[in-house]
Amino acid sequence: MDGLNHVAFIMDGNGRWAKAKGMPRINGHKAGARAMEQIVPYAFTKGATVLSFYAFSTENWSRPKDEVNGIIKLLFWLLDKNLSYLHENQIRLLVTGDLSCLSKVRREKVLNAINATKDYKKTVNILFNYGGKSDIMHAVHGLIDSGIKRPTEADFENYLYNNLPPVDLLIRTSGEMRLSNFMLWQCAYAELYFTKTYWPDFGKEDYDKALEEFYGRNRRFGAITNPK
Ligand code: FPP
Repeated sequence: MDGLNHVAFIMDGNGRWAKAKGMPRINGHKAGARAMEQIVPYAFTKGATVLSFYAFSTENWSRPKDEVNGIIKLLFWLLDKNLSYLHENQIRLLVTGDLSCLSKVRREKVLNAINATKDYKKTVNILFNYGGKSDIMHAVHGLIDSGIKRPTEADFENYLYNNLPPVDLLIRTSGEMRLSNFMLWQCAYAELYFTKTYWPDFGKEDYDKALEEFYGRNRRFGAITNPK
């Protein structure tokens, strides 16, 4: 175990990528979905066992309806296209967030895919209708309902949308340097990596650069390097 288990991606810059090419924003999201498909197998071969992708935030509802519907459609396009890939490669699908926004048919489709892959060890986790604060509140409400009066951190983690390992490396593309309400609890000790590359252009070489930087960092988790 070399410290790289969970890698998370804030896939930013799809809109600007499309605009720079004189195309509608949705083309940027389509290209972003293809970039995601390229990076998943590569990141697994490079040692990660959990990959998280921020696909749609609780704040993204304020975008034009067409764009919102387009992103939701892409999620299902990806799911239909890749379900057999997930089985062939023994990859578990997780979708983290509030799925109550989906129609019953769509929600069941997602839940069936999650259930059908639940015993696989590698994980692709899609954050959909997700916010870090809403994840924390979900745990708070669950704990209150459970009657646990003095929860431990482990209890708390059991009531998050999904109990995921801590994020080791968080990659955000497009030059923005914010967390944007992303996995606030799970990123407590994440190494943050920012690149100016727009998400649709993010490929294997960019991932290698992020890994190089990650392995060059000194992760102390609040301790000191050479205690005497
Ligand atoms: C941020 O770029 C990206 C998103 C809000 C959506 C990410 C969605 C995908 C990569 C599509 C496919 C994946 C799934 C699972 C649905 P932006 O639109 O904020 O870009 P901008 O900052 O340049 O405008």
